[in-house]
Amino acid sequence: MAEAATVEAREVSKVFFSGSDPVWALDGVSLTLDPGSFTCIVGPSGCGKSTLLRIMGGLEPLTSGEVRRPQSG
Ligand SMILES: Nc1ncnc2c1ncn2[C@@H]1O[C@H](COP(=O)(O)OP(=O)(O)O)[C@@H](O)[C@H]1O
Ligand SMILES: [Mg+2]
Repeated sequence: MAEAATVEAREVSKVFFSGSDPVWALDGVSLTLDPGSFTCIVGPSGCGKSTLLRIMGGLEPLTSGEVRRPQSG
């Protein structure tokens, strides 16, 4: 079976707009998840953990930066 691919976030930022007020959920986050590695993302409620994972999983559009998912194999 093919090994899972690395997933890499580069300088990812995310702004939500609730009403007219911008909320910077992420501001230039870079993170590489390598095959076989184990990564914990910790921080207080509202610091952007879920938003980062949703973006890295392709479930949420980002405001700037990029997420790379090179093909494995
Ligand atoms: N869909 C959304 N609309 C507006 N603001 C959001 C939305 N999702 C998250 N946020 C805001 O983005 C910030 C990060 O939230 P979140 O990623 O859920 O944090 P965590 O998972 O670390 O608790 C918070 O200020 C939160 O209120
Ligand atoms: Mg969360």
